[in-house]
Amino acid sequence: MLVCPVCQNPLNQNGKNLSCEKSHSFDQAKQGYFNLLLNTAKNSQSPGDNAAMVKARQAFLDSGLYKSISDTVNQLVIEHLWQTESPQLLDLACGEGYYTQQLHYALDDHQIKHSLYGLDISKDAIKTAAKRDKSIHWIVANGFKAPFASNSLHCVLNMFNRVNAKTLHALCHENGKVIVASAAKYHLEQLKHAIYNTPKFEEFDMVGEMGNEFDHDVRHQLDFAIKLKPENTQALLGMTPHAWRSSPETQQQLLENPELELRVNVNIDCFTPKKLETVKVETETESKFAPEKKPATAEAKATQEPAETDTKDVNQNIWKSGG
Ligand SMILES: C[S@@+](CC[C@H](N)C(=O)[O-])C[C@H]1O[C@@H](n2cnc3c(N)ncnc32)[C@H](O)[C@@H]1O
Ligand SMILES: [Zn+2]
Repeated sequence: MLVCPVCQNPLNQNGKNLSCEKSHSFDQAKQGYFNLLLNTAKNSQSPGDNAAMVKARQAFLDSGLYKSISDTVNQLVIEHLWQTESPQLLDLACGEGYYTQQLHYALDDHQIKHSLYGLDISKDAIKTAAKRDKSIHWIVANGFKAPFASNSLHCVLNMFNRVNAKTLHALCHENGKVIVASAAKYHLEQLKHAIYNTPKFEEFDMVGEMGNEFDHDVRHQLDFAIKLKPENTQALLGMTPHAWRSSPETQQQLLENPELELRVNVNIDCFTPKKLETVKVETETESKFAPEKKPATAEAKATQEPAETDTKDVNQNIWKSGG
């Protein structure tokens, strides 16, 4: 259930308007989404992915090259939800909505009546997502202050974003699940070799990160090869910070390959919330989710190929690289 981002009272929908008992009111945008992002909850004029990144991500995901990631996630959700009546689901930091839409189709295919929310802090992302399907509830909001009643969501997806276990725990129903997709050790291996002098192959300890608030149910590790046509490579380069660190020459070489083979190595983890007495929700800004900004022009033109930097930086690629 949606709550008011100002006073946390329930929001009621009346036509194209959401309002709370304290008369805080939010109009639906003409594209069909609701903007529940307060100015105080953003640290820049237009936080989150910009229009170019959104377009690149959509072009790449719509190619279907990551469909098996989406299928695996959907299978897990359906296994968990088939007995839940009218489940409420959230795709947190959903970007342009590919995974959200695929989940919606899968739930429909299994005749699971549901309410599905796609939330992102980027207005460009949600505007694009809203064109996908009008029966999904698209929300612009800060994921760290996601405007949902406590413990109301039967399933929360977190696809290629950095996680905040306390926030996820506060959102998730006590019988709910959180499903997290993240880059495994050898994700985009060949791309890293092409871009970095000394690529590092490490993976974020997702189970450890979630361990205080969640029990780990199961991990599906996907490891498969995809073949990219130049237009797919172009799109991938537009959505991954690995590429933003590369020289124009390296990018050109990658684009000249008519069939670039890449290893996809992704962990999909399913978590159950622990019964904690009280979980304090952290009030962080969007900066923790936000993908790294593209480098300034001069940096982008640097011909020196970079080495991957420190461990922390590599770990952050889990969510920055966006799969
Ligand atoms: C790496 S992308 C992943 C998008 C999508 N989950 C996917 O896998 O295609 C990260 C997303 O997080 C969003 N984001 C960044 N900070 C956020 C925040 N504080 N709250 C909600 N979304 C945020 C960005 O706008 C972007 O769409
Ligand atoms: Zn209110």
